[in-house]
Amino acid sequence: MKLFIDTASLQDIEEIASWGVLAGVTTNPTLLSQVEGDEDSIYRRICELVDGPISAEVVANDVPTMISEGKRLAAIHPNIVVKLPTCAEGLSATSALAKDGIRVNMTLCFTASQAMLAASAGAAFVSPFLGRYDDISEDGLGHLGEIVECFANSLYETEVLAASIRSPLHVMEAAQIGADIATIPPKVFHQMLKHPLTGSGIDQFNKDHAGRLAKQGA
Ligand code: G3P
Repeated sequence: MKLFIDTASLQDIEEIASWGVLAGVTTNPTLLSQVEGDEDSIYRRICELVDGPISAEVVANDVPTMISEGKRLAAIHPNIVVKLPTCAEGLSATSALAKDGIRVNMTLCFTASQAMLAASAGAAFVSPFLGRYDDISEDGLGHLGEIVECFANSLYETEVLAASIRSPLHVMEAAQIGADIATIPPKVFHQMLKHPLTGSGIDQFNKDHAGRLAKQGA
């Protein structure tokens, strides 16, 4: 499973990209509202930091504006993927953009039937949300499993991008279920990395190495 980062924070993207683990980036209007600066410049800088699909979301609600906004975003950089919501207008715009060779990530996908519509419209990626199902006490991972199963039994080339990830457990379970990609918030990347036994092991090795040097110096 490929790992994307779910943020518009250039600082966080730069930090996690330096680990060499990122295959792409997803943003959304909420994430952009949390950072300063002009959106196009942010997208351009993200494309410099990470060489992979970079999702930029359209905010229009009617088909012609979704298409024109999508084309404008796609022209920023070849790695830009246009993000559109899973609704009737989003499907029509996805179909038009896909016919023009523009990759679309259909977001706010909650069911296998929505995912199949997105794939049939020509979406390159479909983003099932996990955490927002958990928020309403429903089984997000179960729905993700249904989508992966439906896609395995079809000829869709659409990649399943698990989104709304809230914990390292979500990442592991999305991989076990067979999602192609998980988009992960910066905080969860740090949680994935940390283990108390790794931390105490590094401390012990450093202490023992320092002790050996001290003995050699004595
Ligand atoms: O990028 C879309 C998705 O990952 C949003 O996550 O945490 O706002 O449900 P969340």
